[in-house]
Amino acid sequence: MADKPSLRSSLLSFCLFTAALAKKMPYEFIVEQTNTYILPSLPYGYKELEPFIDEATVRVHHLGHHAAYTNKMNAAMQQWERENEIRETDSVVEKSILQILHRLDDVPEKYRSGIRNNGGGYVNHNLYWSVMSPNPNSDDREPINQLGKDMVENFGNFSNFKELFTKEALSLFGSGYVWLSRDINQNGKLVISKTTNQDSPFEDGFLPILVIDIWEHAYYIKHQNRRPKHVSDWWNLVDWSSVEELDKWWKGLNYLFHDEL
Ligand SMILES: *[C@@H]1O[C@H](CO)[C@@H](O)[C@H](O)[C@H]1NC(C)=O
Ligand SMILES: [Fe+2]
Repeated sequence: MADKPSLRSSLLSFCLFTAALAKKMPYEFIVEQTNTYILPSLPYGYKELEPFIDEATVRVHHLGHHAAYTNKMNAAMQQWERENEIRETDSVVEKSILQILHRLDDVPEKYRSGIRNNGGGYVNHNLYWSVMSPNPNSDDREPINQLGKDMVENFGNFSNFKELFTKEALSLFGSGYVWLSRDINQNGKLVISKTTNQDSPFEDGFLPILVIDIWEHAYYIKHQNRRPKHVSDWWNLVDWSSVEELDKWWKGLNYLFHDEL
């Protein structure tokens, strides 16, 4: 009998260990088919992105802004379903928010801007949180493996890519995002693009693997109006292995974007 508790406790710790390993990244939520999305927890603590993004900013960005987009998106989808009895008559809402944003023109006009702004806000932030990680010692980070090679093929070298991406971030007028994506209409070629407000790159057939949020709420507490400082600080936090993971994840989902969608 004496070995039973120890077997049980080692099983328990094994289960806890695998549960920790299996923790979902925020981007994985965007393909769920639900009208009640949850706010994903961040893959790091609120304080851990310091000194590049301060704790107060991460906290209000996640629990204030991102949470509000989540709630309003859910409310918009529920209203759309309720008023149209969609689950009974149409399969559109049974698609994930990702698929809905990819085919935004199919959303009835009455609900479209609510879905574009809040659904976009939900998805864009899920992606944004997923590609950063703490870097308290400011280690140099660069993409390696296939992504590193593709970076060289598309942009000549990494510093040139950084320069082009930064230029887009500094020239974007108003609020929005800058993205690095795979263009599915060009065989997965890497492209840099920008979107304003909460628009998503999916409408253009881009699968985003890296994104910076350049709404003022992403940096105003620490940097006030100094967007260039926000962008140069953010580069330190980009986690290229997470970017690679996201790149692989999209490859497994390519079927979502074929025309029979
Ligand atoms: C990177 O590419 C740019 C643009 O082609 C070039 O001007 C620069 O010299 C290159 N830098 C390095 C370190 O190779
Ligand atoms: Fe944001």
